[in-house]
Amino acid sequence: MGCASVDTGSTRSRQFLKVNEILQRFNRDSRRLIAILQAVQDAYRYLPQPVLNYLATSLGIPRARVYGVATFYAHFSLEPKGKYIIRICDGTACHVNHSQALLDLVSEKLGIDQEKPTSDDLLFTVERVSCIGACGLAPVAVVNDLVYGQLAPAKLGEVLDELIRVEKGI
Ligand code: FES
Repeated sequence: MGCASVDTGSTRSRQFLKVNEILQRFNRDSRRLIAILQAVQDAYRYLPQPVLNYLATSLGIPRARVYGVATFYAHFSLEPKGKYIIRICDGTACHVNHSQALLDLVSEKLGIDQEKPTSDDLLFTVERVSCIGACGLAPVAVVNDLVYGQLAPAKLGEVLDELIRVEKGI
C-alpha cells in the first residue's frame, strides 16, 4: 500500500493558525463578519474557501451568509492575489493619456493581464480600475498604497524592476 500524506491535527491547526488569531481578536463575534473577512484577506491576501467554511463553523453562522458577504463586496477576492497589486486606472482621463501602454507594459514584463491577472509566483496582480479621482495626474497607477502619476511605461518598468530586485534579493 502506498504511503499517502496524512492531514494530521497539527497540519490543520497550522493551516488555520492565522484565522484562529483573527477570530480571537474579534471575540468570535459574527456581527463583525465584514471586519473579520477584511482581516482574513489582509492575512492571506485573499479569502480561501477552506477558511471561509471554517469561519462559518467557528462563528456558528450559515456558509451562505459568509459567502454572501464575501462575494457582495468587490473589494473581497476569492482568488489568490499577488503581494503587489498594480492598479492601472483606465478612466477617461487616463485612457486618453495612454493607460493602455501601461497595461501593455505590465503584460509584456510580468505576463499578467485581465485574462490572467496574477503571476504564478504570486508576486504581482494587475487590475484595470475606473477613475480613482486623480485625473489631473493622468495616467495614474497605484502599486499597493503608492500612487504614481503622469506615469510613463518606462517609469513603471523601473518601479517593477525595483520590486523584483527587492524580492529576489539582488
Ligand atoms: S481617469 Fe484616471 S484618475 Fe481619473
